[in-house]
Amino acid sequence: MKGVVLAGGLGTRLYPLTKITNKHLLPVYDKPMVHYPIQALVNAGIQDILIVTGGNSAGDFLQLLGNGNDFGLKDLSYTYQQGEGGIADALKLAEHFADGEKIVVILGDNLIEKNITKAVEDFAAQETGAKILLKEVHDPQRFGVATVDAAGNVQKIIEKPKQPESNLAVIGIYMYDARVFDFINQLEPSERGELEITDVNNFYVQDGTLTSEVLDGWWTDAGTFDSLLRASNMVAEGGANRMD
Ligand code: DAU
Repeated sequence: MKGVVLAGGLGTRLYPLTKITNKHLLPVYDKPMVHYPIQALVNAGIQDILIVTGGNSAGDFLQLLGNGNDFGLKDLSYTYQQGEGGIADALKLAEHFADGEKIVVILGDNLIEKNITKAVEDFAAQETGAKILLKEVHDPQRFGVATVDAAGNVQKIIEKPKQPESNLAVIGIYMYDARVFDFINQLEPSERGELEITDVNNFYVQDGTLTSEVLDGWWTDAGTFDSLLRASNMVAEGGANRMD
């Protein structure tokens, strides 16, 4: 399976830290933020990875990551997103790279304590559709939130609900079959003017082919001042991307 790291967008919630550099190059404890999602893919056995970047300092990604040798990779692919059209807009740029294969997508500001090896294996065995990962949080209003029935099936996902129906956040790791690009092409921009990944996931809910698993270990984003600090503290305390 191929992997895609989405590191575009303008990182406006971290302004002025992002006035002259890209959010995903900022430090999270002892490494640049983008290292963590790349390592998460590599730990799950994914070797063929595309980095979608955008905004400021895009050239610095090449200098930082090169051909991926630090991660034991032979090569890395790169592409550039103009503007801040949303997560699904960034993912659209991966169509050519995916070339009809299944993909694992991870947001460039998401960090996990453990690994997604089992979920990726499960998705490899899943005939068609998509898989999302869920995590209980105390502040679901900040995320995509899943409503799950008694059997554990996702019924719907609402992006940043004011009154969440559950505390199960949809984390920024998504697995898709090749139809994802057809679904993206049907999207209309949301109220915040973005192509929303939640709308893509809801297409799969309607299709009856979305599966989900609850992530083991901590998860955090790092796109606000509070979550960036939290991410650094979590890494300092116990490390990220553990394989045990
Ligand atoms: O962290 C998980 C959450 O990420 C999910 O629960 C939400 O459903 C999902 O919409 C997203 O929410 P955010 O509003 O926090 O996403 P944000 O705009 O901060 O973007 C997260 C990453 O996605 C960012 O670090 C890089 C990538 N991205 C984002 C945008 C808007 C792009 O590559 N291009 C973009 O245009």
